[in-house]
Amino acid sequence: MSQADRDRWNNKYAALSPRDDSVGRGEGIRGVQMLVDPWLASRVTRQAANSTGPVPRALELACGLGQTAIYLAQCGYRVDAVDVSAVALTQAARAADAAGVAVRWIEADLDDWRPERAAYDLIVVQRFLDRTRLPEIIPWALKAGGELLYTTFTRDSASGPGNPAFLLERGELRQLYATLEPLEESSSPPPDCLARFHARSRNEPRTAGGACGPLDG
Ligand SMILES: C[S@@+](CC[C@H](N)C(=O)[O-])C[C@H]1O[C@@H](n2cnc3c(N)ncnc32)[C@H](O)[C@@H]1O
Repeated sequence: MSQADRDRWNNKYAALSPRDDSVGRGEGIRGVQMLVDPWLASRVTRQAANSTGPVPRALELACGLGQTAIYLAQCGYRVDAVDVSAVALTQAARAADAAGVAVRWIEADLDDWRPERAAYDLIVVQRFLDRTRLPEIIPWALKAGGELLYTTFTRDSASGPGNPAFLLERGELRQLYATLEPLEESSSPPPDCLARFHARSRNEPRTAGGACGPLDG
């Protein structure tokens, strides 16, 4: 990513006051969510709560203000969260402190950052599209049986970025992640029309467990 693009993201996040009322209403920066997505939350398995083994690990890529990473930590995951914006991560860390959970915030450019191999039980991506790098690193970083929850803008999304390079074609996530076993492919209702894709790394029995539970607030 160019320095200009990095500055652009930092400036967007800097313009958002942490005390801005819009945060609680789910508004704020165009394309950045302020609340945890209920679709995602309902599919996060209670692996941590049910696990007698090691604490399950989750990774959020392009985490922005980190609400989802914090939610996953509250669900019992050990969470790593990556974003290129130092400003966003500073706000995210403050929110995690306020929530009383630990998240490892990683300031990095996904164009060249490489995660640990076969390390994660769950990887989450929201409102971010990279057709080259992510399809390489996500299958690499998932444990066998680990799951991907991916949701982002499509060409039908009214609220998405203007640049068509960041908008999905129908069925595109399934193609980009063809090495994973697809579990669900759907779309959120208009006007958002976000693609929703849930998939699993192959060759591992499913972890038993239900949804993590209702969202607070
Ligand atoms: C539209 S926002 C979405 C943020 C968050 N996932 C959400 O749903 O609210 C896109 C995010 O991707 C981050 N980003 C963009 N390009 C990146 C890159 N090459 N490496 C890491 N983060 C990047 C931006 O800083 C921004 O936080």
